[in-house]
Amino acid sequence: MAYETLIVETRGAVGLITLNRPQALNALNSTVLKELLQAYEVFQADDAVGAMVLTGSERAFAAGADIKEMQPLDYVDVYGRDLMSGWDDVAKVRKPVIAAVSGFALGGGCELAMMCDIIIASETAKFGQPEITLGVIPGMGGSQRLTRAVGRYKAMDLILTGRMMDAAEAERAGLVSRVVAPERLLDEALEAAAKIASLSRPSVLMAKEAVNRALETTLEEGLRFERRLFHSLFSTEDQKEGMTAFIEKRKPAFKNR
Ligand code: HXC
Repeated sequence: MAYETLIVETRGAVGLITLNRPQALNALNSTVLKELLQAYEVFQADDAVGAMVLTGSERAFAAGADIKEMQPLDYVDVYGRDLMSGWDDVAKVRKPVIAAVSGFALGGGCELAMMCDIIIASETAKFGQPEITLGVIPGMGGSQRLTRAVGRYKAMDLILTGRMMDAAEAERAGLVSRVVAPERLLDEALEAAAKIASLSRPSVLMAKEAVNRALETTLEEGLRFERRLFHSLFSTEDQKEGMTAFIEKRKPAFKNR
């Protein structure tokens, strides 16, 4: 598959996707969206891939939606084509995705990172929702996902002023899972993804589903959902293997069944 805006490769059981529009600091245009959905579909269908890493360049994870593409559009254009709605499908990929963020993750770039399941940031990372400085507001989930991630007051601060926060602040705020030295970024993300890929696939997918459910439902319904998934995993060979291996003091050999 030839991609114009991405580099797509596998590293063992990990699918690695690198945003590759260096001339525009990886600004997210309609081609990036189309190709990212395609790459996700390929990795989702590939049984040899257990998790993915999404990254950008050292300078920018992504500096936002492509302002040059949006600038000429009017209301009828954006409403008619439901601009940005395609990104909802990016957030729906079932295998875990780790965002490895270096440099700018602004606007749609920050929102894309928040569509991933784990955010590992380089010390150089800068997060922000600067749409307000362009006369608009976040349109790829920023007002919703950032608020859920960091709470109302930090989200308001970022979304109303458009300021950037560095990796340390983003980690304190709960947006970032880990902060690492720049030279460790990709390895840290690939190692975490390889670890996930080595685990039993049904339990990994259900764990992701269960955590995401916490953002959608009441505690009582969420607990019921979790318990039913938990129960269902006792129908897998991997549950027997995982628990037997523990008792026999050996490594489990999961079959993803
Ligand atoms: C299109 C972009 C871009 C973007 C950068 N570029 N961000 N092109 N869309 N979002 C382009 C620049 O135009 C420039 O191209 C090249 O990338 C390098 O950028 P510079 O500005 O020269 O780099 P620098 O001075 O280092 O500043 C980096 C920066 C700045 C602080 C990240 O580029 C910036 O503020 N970018 C916009 C950030 C932003 O507002 N993002 C939110 C977008 S709106 P040329 O051709 O001039 O060399 C958004 C909304 C989502 O995401 C949904 C709803 C509306």
